[in-house]
Amino acid sequence: MVGVSEFRNEISAALKAHVPIVIVESYEWERVEGLLCAITRKEEITYLKATAEKGLRLFDHEKKRFTHDHPMIADQHDWSIDNIVRWVRDELEGDVLLHIEDFHHNFQGEELAPGNHLDAGTQPHTASWAYVGYWRELARMKPSRRKTIIISGATQMAFGDLEKEVVSIKLDLPEVKELGLIYDRVVRQQEFEPSSADERNRVVEAARGLTVMEAQTAFALAGLNNSKKLDKDAIPMIIRQKRSLLQNSGGLLDYFEPNVNIEDVGGLKNLKMWLEDRREALTPAAREFGIEAPKGLMLLGVPGCGKSLTAKAIASMWGYPLVRFDLSKVFGSFVGQTESQMRKALDVAEAVAPCILWIDEIEKGMAGAGGDGSTDSGVTARTFGILLTWMQEKTSPVFVVATSNRVQNLPAEAIRKGRFDEIFFVDLPTAEIREEILLKKIESIGADSGTDVSTINLNAVAEMTSLFSGAELEQLVKDSLFLAFKDGARPLTTDDLLTVSKRTYPLAITMKEDIAALRKFAHNRAQPADGEDIVSSIEDIPEEENPFGE
Ligand SMILES: Nc1ncnc2c1ncn2[C@@H]1O[C@H](COP(=O)(O)OP(=O)(O)OP(=O)(O)O)[C@@H](O)[C@H]1O
Ligand SMILES: [Mg+2]
Repeated sequence: MVGVSEFRNEISAALKAHVPIVIVESYEWERVEGLLCAITRKEEITYLKATAEKGLRLFDHEKKRFTHDHPMIADQHDWSIDNIVRWVRDELEGDVLLHIEDFHHNFQGEELAPGNHLDAGTQPHTASWAYVGYWRELARMKPSRRKTIIISGATQMAFGDLEKEVVSIKLDLPEVKELGLIYDRVVRQQEFEPSSADERNRVVEAARGLTVMEAQTAFALAGLNNSKKLDKDAIPMIIRQKRSLLQNSGGLLDYFEPNVNIEDVGGLKNLKMWLEDRREALTPAAREFGIEAPKGLMLLGVPGCGKSLTAKAIASMWGYPLVRFDLSKVFGSFVGQTESQMRKALDVAEAVAPCILWIDEIEKGMAGAGGDGSTDSGVTARTFGILLTWMQEKTSPVFVVATSNRVQNLPAEAIRKGRFDEIFFVDLPTAEIREEILLKKIESIGADSGTDVSTINLNAVAEMTSLFSGAELEQLVKDSLFLAFKDGARPLTTDDLLTVSKRTYPLAITMKEDIAALRKFAHNRAQPADGEDIVSSIEDIPEEENPFGE
């Protein structure tokens, strides 16, 4: 994959060296065409373009458009590709670039025996293209003929053993710098209000993964829908434009509207501070400052204590789209497909960067990865290895947030230092944090009941709810609302909450052993998301025989 300046250099060099065949892979035909126009103009090379739709045209550098009406090609009526190629090669004088677009799907490479033609009935012009020998001969065209044929298309082309005889270039999507130029042009053309340099850079960064044409449309639409301003309020609209990109992942990735704020999360002080310190770490400014983009975070912990909630909150806190990666679907795919599915999903994630890549319950389907790969001949381990290696090597701003509440299935490599930037352990909330969570939940869930949270004795409720998870505290508030509603739709009271809490049997009691194992596992491996230390004891959890702790 090359960026635009490298692309220019490589094509110029190939033209100067008269490399016979160059393959260009790109989704952006307009961009490839535009670049070839510019290069051939600069190098004073005749630029001919052949497409199935429009036949053969010459680019008129003076008038800046393609034309059929030129003496040079006017008497060419047979526009079958092999005829064009022969004519360019054998009859044209001087330096010529022949650009052929979207004909590559006629290549079958070595799978076809020489002389074997594609269905001549339906594709008369391209029949002989399948003949590898013909192409091999072309690929060996002498530089003294001063001709180069560029074949461009969106998909990877299968040239079989011909691949060694041709030059291949894959044009990357536009770089941030190019997107910046597009941004500036759109702002100028649409007469948008100017934004600060910092906001401009964030908007531009949000458009990564879009093609030139897509970015142009996204900027224009987002600005028009945002009072003619392309500032950070326009970012969500640009991100929505990128949604369609995720469809390329075959359902493995999907996009989440981040609807949770970090203020909605109770407790987790250390984790929040860590996130706050890195809020701007994925921005271009941080990169220029020499900061290495953080790779990812692993959140281990007790079920229902805010791991998934935090993952969602990070996206809105940092201002990036939240992309959920369903790893279990990767493992559910057909034999042999798993690894390629994994790579494809990661490619797409990079294409939509910057983003938060959320892998919820990462251990799901990971049973074989822990070393005993016997169950699936090591596929799980290898596939997981792809993820870890990618995390080490990726340069795009993709921040991985993985969560897990069943550590025993996690492969040891996953939690080794250096894979994730940090591993946090999210435990059951302490009394103080239960108070905080209750406050938040009453304020949000109880908003319509007219409850004034200052009338509630949060301290008493927190005392009564030891071992409750955040999810259970939320449920407690929801259930208490029933009592208040039944009793004349009045505001919530402390008594409602206490009454319901006495009827609740927290999961932690049934899960005593699991929590003990989790804490033990996390003790030396993870940072506490809250408080000073990870408690490895479970003495505070009563035996199951005494379910209500009474
Ligand atoms: N610390 C918290 N602050 C506020 N709400 C919380 C907190 N923890 C849990 N909740 C509430 O409980 C719900 C479930 O939490 P969440 O899905 O984040 O749990 P989890 O840690 O991911 O659990 P699991 O391991 O089962 O996936 C949340 O939607 C949220 O409403
Ligand atoms: Mg979860």
